[in-house]
Amino acid sequence: MYRLVTFLKMFVLTAAVGLVFGTFGSGTPAQAATKSSATIEQLTPSMSYAEYKKRYEKYYGDATAQMAEEGNPADFLLDDGKDLANKVVGSKGKSCASCHGKDAVKLKGAATTFPRYDAALKGIMTFPLQINTCRERQMGAKPLKYESYDQLALTMYIKSLSNGMPIRVSIDGLAQPFYKKGEATYYRRQGQLNFSCAICHVQYAGYKARANLISNNKHHADHWPGYRLKWNKTGSLQRRFRGCLKNMRAKRKPYESAEYRDLELYLTYINNGDLIQVPGMRM
Ligand code: HEC
Ligand code: HEC
Repeated sequence: MYRLVTFLKMFVLTAAVGLVFGTFGSGTPAQAATKSSATIEQLTPSMSYAEYKKRYEKYYGDATAQMAEEGNPADFLLDDGKDLANKVVGSKGKSCASCHGKDAVKLKGAATTFPRYDAALKGIMTFPLQINTCRERQMGAKPLKYESYDQLALTMYIKSLSNGMPIRVSIDGLAQPFYKKGEATYYRRQGQLNFSCAICHVQYAGYKARANLISNNKHHADHWPGYRLKWNKTGSLQRRFRGCLKNMRAKRKPYESAEYRDLELYLTYINNGDLIQVPGMRM
């Protein structure tokens, strides 16, 4: 029964997206899917950024202002995150503060350069993964489970030390191939509905899909972890990836998988210059 309901819901989404978007640019989705995965499908926004902004503010304007007035429920995690930064755990008898200063204040600005290439990992290091890596290597402590309360609280607190500072992620040198992989994932059509991230967040940003106005991918990476009304909970950027992949009826990967880290590098790089502002709040 549950599966049937889910299927019907998805059918409504497809129909709605079809109705809202009308015909799909050049070629059918099926044709596009047969293209080599190395080719990035050329997609352009359907409207100017100014027009998109106007629609976005008209659609969310009041709701967001109202939510902000009532306060962000995710703010509560910040105090707990700070306590965690000072708490001694693991076999080496250390806390984050032992190396990064009281309340880990020396990590101010650290979040602005993540994700980035990491030599030991031979891949992309995200901010949450760096924190867990320090716990394991420097403290002899267990990594925190992704999306658990403590993991989100600690990540959010440490990231909030960089609030108001511009994102300045590098894709030079050894980071380049991972950036390219992330870009390819963003543009790759996948799942039973044969969508790519870019179809919605580049080409059709500013249009409605069901009850949502689809956002442009500028400002997607500056405010996570954040609170989301629909979750009634705080969550990460990668939880957002998984949510959209589910809507696309595509396979989902585990948190901090190589694919999501590369995707996060791509998305964060195109948000360079945006000011970090955690916790965010979204519908
Ligand atoms: C024993 C010392 C030690 C402890 C304890 C420690 N770290 Fe680190 N941390 C390091 C070192 C050394 C580096 C730089 C090298 C590296 O990337 O591992 C670092 C790097 C970082 C960075 C990246 C900083 C930047 O500007 O590039 C972050 C973020 C970070 N640590 C967070 C934490 C958090 C959060 C904790 C507590 C869970 C913690 N660390 C515990 C030693 C430590
Ligand atoms: C069918 C259209 C659709 C597709 C395909 C899609 N999304 Fe979304 N996405 C949405 C909608 C609707 C929302 C919620 C409203 C909005 O856009 O902020 C959203 C929200 C998001 C957000 C949060 C935006 C914010 O302001 O915080 C991120 C990040 C995101 N999507 C990433 C992705 C990624 C990565 C993919 C590909 C794996 C993807 N999306 C595919 C429709 C889509």
